[in-house]
Amino acid sequence: MTSVIRKFIFHDLQTIEGYIDPPDALVFLSLLQSQKDRSLGGALAEIGVFYGRSYFLLRKISGSDEKVLAIDLFNIGQTADGVSAQYGRFLENGRRLGMPVDEELIIKGDSTLLEPDQLTDKIGKIRFFSIDGGHMLRHVAADSRLAMETIADHGVIAFDDTFNPAWPEVTIGMADFLRDCGGAFSAFCMTKYKTYVCRREFHALYAELIANSADLAAFDHVETEFLGSKVARLHNPISRRMVYELMIRSGMSAFSERVYR
Ligand SMILES: C[S@@+](CC[C@H](N)C(=O)[O-])C[C@H]1O[C@@H](n2cnc3c(N)ncnc32)[C@H](O)[C@@H]1O
Repeated sequence: MTSVIRKFIFHDLQTIEGYIDPPDALVFLSLLQSQKDRSLGGALAEIGVFYGRSYFLLRKISGSDEKVLAIDLFNIGQTADGVSAQYGRFLENGRRLGMPVDEELIIKGDSTLLEPDQLTDKIGKIRFFSIDGGHMLRHVAADSRLAMETIADHGVIAFDDTFNPAWPEVTIGMADFLRDCGGAFSAFCMTKYKTYVCRREFHALYAELIANSADLAAFDHVETEFLGSKVARLHNPISRRMVYELMIRSGMSAFSERVYR
């Protein structure tokens, strides 16, 4: 099964316009599969879908029996009378990839205005929540509160664009969240683009799981301290990133998976 998903990551994912790259796709895979192996149940959710790049990855990893909730304004290319170009392309991507979108599990609108039960009424408690919507402090503050109130005890929250100088308020929002919750949550993993957090009681479990994941063995695991907890920073050397980019650009995506073994 892992090889089917790795094929999806290194081939199909590139065909969807968007932002998640192999390192974070492999972290998603490791976390979601390990949760399943340990019977840590719950649904999946994402704020900020764009054209579905990370959403379809969540769908692919979790399979057809699990619920994945997608929240987005879906207003790119909005016309006065109809479906936006963004939403149309998102649905089309689902058909093309053989994962048609269940529109019952789509919330079109501003995530900052949502109440927790609008999510849990649809999908129950959430075991993995990806936050990649609005990138200003007020968005991250509202979205992290919503995630905190809807995740299962063992739930993971993935914050996108942390430490990206283009979006400084995302980092402040994530750090405010960790400090305001008085130690209830802590970060356990960071990549170039994302920070992964969980309830403190589950920190040791997720830290161990990241350390031992075969899918993450290609990265250097560098121990970092962040707001009172140890974090595994997964370093992806520039040499590998260059080889990978060259392969993708020269139409060799089928072989690009080997670069990340
Ligand atoms: C960076 S893109 C998400 C990328 C996506 N996760 C991917 O894998 O390609 C950010 C998305 O957040 C959405 N967004 C921005 N502000 C939002 C808000 N307040 N509520 C819901 N969605 C929002 C935008 O419409 C856009 O599609």
